[in-house]
Amino acid sequence: GTAEIGLIGLGTMGSALALNIAEKGFDIAVWNRTPEVTRDFAKEAGELAPRVTPTETLEELVAAIAEPRAIILMVPAGDPVDQQMAALRPLLGPDDLIIDAGNANFHDTNRRAAEDGGPFLGIGVSGGEEGARHGPAIMGGGDRANWDRVAHILTAISAKYQDHPCAAWMGEEGAGHFVKAVHNGIEYADMQMIAEIYGILRDGMGMEAAEIGDVFERWNDGPLDSYLVEISAKVAKATDAATGRPLLSVIEDAAGQKGTGRWTVIEAQHLGAPIPAIDSAVMARNVSARRDLRAEGERLFGRGPETMPDAPALETLEKALIAGKIMCYAQGFSMIARASDQFGWALPLPEIARVWRAGCIIRSEMLNDMASALTDDPSRLLIFAPDFAERVKDTQESLRETVIAAQRAGIAVPALGSGLAWFDLIRTARGTADMIQGQRDFFGLHGFVRMDTGATDQHGPWAG
Ligand code: 6PG
Repeated sequence: GTAEIGLIGLGTMGSALALNIAEKGFDIAVWNRTPEVTRDFAKEAGELAPRVTPTETLEELVAAIAEPRAIILMVPAGDPVDQQMAALRPLLGPDDLIIDAGNANFHDTNRRAAEDGGPFLGIGVSGGEEGARHGPAIMGGGDRANWDRVAHILTAISAKYQDHPCAAWMGEEGAGHFVKAVHNGIEYADMQMIAEIYGILRDGMGMEAAEIGDVFERWNDGPLDSYLVEISAKVAKATDAATGRPLLSVIEDAAGQKGTGRWTVIEAQHLGAPIPAIDSAVMARNVSARRDLRAEGERLFGRGPETMPDAPALETLEKALIAGKIMCYAQGFSMIARASDQFGWALPLPEIARVWRAGCIIRSEMLNDMASALTDDPSRLLIFAPDFAERVKDTQESLRETVIAAQRAGIAVPALGSGLAWFDLIRTARGTADMIQGQRDFFGLHGFVRMDTGATDQHGPWAG
């Protein structure tokens, strides 16, 4: 065969990625479990058709690709990946590379890298359909030598921030999928914090959806310039075709989730890495899905007042969102640093920030500054970097004012609130765990450390 790469799985993301690859000048062979899907794809490839070889069996696919082969899997995460690999590997030569580009749990990618035996990469691809078609962010994991074999293709199809390609090798085994999971956790928290501000504007200040869209649109021209704020403006301004009402007023308030945010939270617990803004975002999605429960809660307890007596100024809300965003990223990057230590990966924090600048769902201008701050010192907590410390000093009072006003009015702001609580913990040199240690010693003689002498395994008067 002569195709430079193969792709299995012509769903939304797979087709978009295949067209992107073809458009960048690479010959690609494609296969889908249902042959009609492959035929339709080939028909719709239009002027890119000469670069696309549709195949109807796995054998045909393998034969169409030049050796040593590289084949991308874009099938649903989980069992389908294992099944597809089991069907494919026996047809391949010893140097043929399988690339899982789905949203795999990085533990599965670690396992597959160990079990598969052949060359294998797990790559996190972000940016939805539009990104896959015109330039996603790509986070690669596996043996560096295998990444190098396909880096020219993955770099070519990736998004570019100025001239910098948003595709990079993150480390061995499941490192790419791990970084993608943290990306998705941050995505959840970013979305949740925007939704919380939306709640204040809607319920606390009585603003119409379209007005809220205008606010977000304005903010998108400032420090909050980001894809998620941009699309939030568009969502808020959209009108429902059937009723002529704001689209938001007809969308059910129950969030879906495929599990990546949850994985991040579970992993953070294993790592002992606090990511409360992300925890809160996952929690809020779970509560959102319990509509009956919430209706019962409102019947029993009533809801917050219709409007906030002390509604913060729009500029205060903007600054609160800036502060919340910084807290959330500081937590996410710190979790990545922790994983580097624990998993023996050298996850490149500045490069991760650079890769996230374009193509992916959490892309934003602020990530460029984060990349600079992390380049200066990757091991320092992001809010301690001088540039970000200044921003936090400038915005934390607004975050506080916003959280207090929302909480007084009974408007839930879990992600903003937990981001603030985390910040207050971080900037309290003398904390309250002396009480925890005293309690532990009281009921279990667990011992404490004296601060004055440094003596360890000390006990209170209840001992002995
Ligand atoms: C991306 C997204 C994407 C994710 C969807 C849905 O980076 O392009 O993270 O990979 O699958 O956003 O995620 P949920 O269904 O969990 O919201």
